[in-house]
Amino acid sequence: MSITFSDRLGALPGYPLAEIPTIKRRLLQEGVDVIDLGAGDNDTPPPAPVVEALKEALDDPSLSKYGFQQGLPAFRKACCDYLERRFGQRFDPATGVLPLIGSKEGLAHLPYAVANPGDVVIFPEPGYQAYIGGTILSGATPHVYPLVASENFLLELDRVPEAVLRRTRLVYINYPNNPTAAIAPMEYLERVVAVCRKYGILLAYDNAYCDLTYDGYVAPSIFEVSGAQEVAVEFFSLSKSFSMTGWRLGWAAGRPELIGALSRVKSYVDTGPFLALQKAGVVALDAAEALVAPIRALLSERRDAAVTALGQVGIEVARPKAAMYLWVPLPDGVPSAPFTRRALEEFGVVTLPGSAFGPAGEGYFRIALTVSPARLTEAVERLGRALDTVRGTRVAATA
Ligand SMILES: Cc1ncc(COP(=O)(O)O)c(C=O)c1O
Repeated sequence: MSITFSDRLGALPGYPLAEIPTIKRRLLQEGVDVIDLGAGDNDTPPPAPVVEALKEALDDPSLSKYGFQQGLPAFRKACCDYLERRFGQRFDPATGVLPLIGSKEGLAHLPYAVANPGDVVIFPEPGYQAYIGGTILSGATPHVYPLVASENFLLELDRVPEAVLRRTRLVYINYPNNPTAAIAPMEYLERVVAVCRKYGILLAYDNAYCDLTYDGYVAPSIFEVSGAQEVAVEFFSLSKSFSMTGWRLGWAAGRPELIGALSRVKSYVDTGPFLALQKAGVVALDAAEALVAPIRALLSERRDAAVTALGQVGIEVARPKAAMYLWVPLPDGVPSAPFTRRALEEFGVVTLPGSAFGPAGEGYFRIALTVSPARLTEAVERLGRALDTVRGTRVAATA
């Protein structure tokens, strides 16, 4: 008998980053100077004091034990101190926060806590893959909300049919947004919370980019909206702010019943982040403001260089106020996947096609601001040449 796979596995769309590393490796072996603007993985090192703290923590054998869901009390406290300093929101370290092995797994595990098979989970498209992954793997029914420029890339629950809202148990919202770099006005967040309260919908507020903001913009926590505590769980990540993507450390915050439900799911599938990482995470969070400031300055320089270079090749993109991406429109009729494939194979630049974030992402590609202004400028010049090859023509669908 051969092994067959589940319908849930079959329902997962292809993972957008899956084939890029293979093509990139081949090009590098051929001696191509590849510029990688694909994954949201900054080229900057993690902060030195955080690395030092991890090295020290490795010498403490008690930190090599299972962390379980409780994790390191000092990390929980650092999360709560940060939430209070940064957003004025108070949580109990013992019950109001939960360490995560990166925020991705927490986001993906959440549907298991609230959705029965057939219940609806709403998520944005284009959007982060963990939302669709968690929805499908948990057996819930996805309801995709297309984010469009004319609605400022906001997921407007008011536009979801009432019959769907009644069956909805969970909605994912992410601002500052990946991949569009959109930000959420407070009055928008108030509207979202009101709809979630009306229909008893859990709001997963993904705030992975809350500290990567520019031009004086300060991203809020969902808990700054009155009544949000009733319905929201908020997800935070050390990945982007501290260049710690591979470390796998994040956390969730919310009222004890909601955090407890996620913790219960996770206690059956993982044993929490490595305690030594949590120890180092304390150093990062306690000094968050000072440590993130230089990253923010660097990213805004990169943003400016890339936006200017795009203008020079005839693409106007507004300067985003947050996140680490440019969401770049393609000329009409140019499909994104063949274009980005050509940009990589013929011009040595990795970007992500909009279609990789779902069909509603078509018509765009994403640039991650992960390299220096000079490299970004060079990459955009090459992308301009790649665009010249498709302007007025269409990239063959098989390219
Ligand atoms: C919107 C969004 N949320 C969450 C994450 C996950 O971050 P991590 O699992 O590294 O904490 C990412 C990573 O790219 C992201 O773009």
